Amino acid sequence: MAALRTSTSRLLACSRSPALRPPITARNYATVDPLAKLGESMSSTQPPVPPNKTSTVEEPQKTQDARTKTFHIYRWSPDTPTEKPKMQSYTLDLNKTGPMVLDALIRIKNEVDPTLTFRRSCREGICGSCAMNIDGVNTLACLCRIPTNTSHESRIYPLPHTYVVKDLVPDLTQFYKQYKSIKPFLQRDTKSPDGKEHRQSPADRKKLDGLYECILCACCSTSCPSYWWNSEEYLGPAVLLQSYRWLADSRDERKAERKAALDNNMSLYRCHTILNCSRTCPKGLNPGKAIQEIKKAMATT
Ligand code: SF4
Ligand code: SF4
Ligand code: FES
Repeated sequence: MAALRTSTSRLLACSRSPALRPPITARNYATVDPLAKLGESMSSTQPPVPPNKTSTVEEPQKTQDARTKTFHIYRWSPDTPTEKPKMQSYTLDLNKTGPMVLDALIRIKNEVDPTLTFRRSCREGICGSCAMNIDGVNTLACLCRIPTNTSHESRIYPLPHTYVVKDLVPDLTQFYKQYKSIKPFLQRDTKSPDGKEHRQSPADRKKLDGLYECILCACCSTSCPSYWWNSEEYLGPAVLLQSYRWLADSRDERKAERKAALDNNMSLYRCHTILNCSRTCPKGLNPGKAIQEIKKAMATT
């Protein structure tokens, strides 16, 4: 059975100023200093180390000019369910490690400790599978530069308030169940004039910008306090952004049905405009705004 993590003290840690947010796209644009600064400024909001012994695993072969950095990583295994989660510390030479946090994790797994478990696939901010909480911020490990300040020790946790499958792997079953519930596909009865494509004007297509780019990483939903407390019924920012993506699509013919499904106390209206979601999105999207647009559409039609 997965472990439930209740890191309430991470409430504040999941947000940050837009200036410090990782850039919208690929690693080329990531900068070192803002994140290094971020690591320092967030350190006071870190949750306490889970109550269990910690252990440190060192770089296999250290050279004299090594730039050694320590990563404290959350560990829990379903194979030993009675053992409490613990933080395990790893030191790596940054001279031998790629620039991103995902590079550090891959190096630890390949060269230091093969038991460390995390998800990753594309390595370029497209698949959304490497979402985790790094130095207090929900983000993608593959887009997050390692702060080069070696005196700052990084702390890496799974996405907050999720059940944990193992180590840094969150259980997103409920998240995907909710995504499925909004019927995330085009619904229409009218056939297209040529029997092939359902066309839309450039202006209508433009309405989908800022929505279709969502990679369903769940960084936003797991940073949302309303979602933490009501995740059984409140859909959360990621799924609501996806919901708006279909409400905003000129080709969809089930808008009334889609809106009716949201017209209750819990699915949509648990959003209290705290905006952690928009601050944390590693793709630079604005789920908070999408939610406001849905509320506007519900109020005016
Ligand atoms: S809106 Fe952003 S943070 Fe939320 S799931 Fe989509 S890409 Fe991830
Ligand atoms: S704006 Fe709404 S969805 Fe976003 S974090 Fe706040 S309560 Fe959650
Ligand atoms: S590995 Fe795909 S988004 Fe990070």
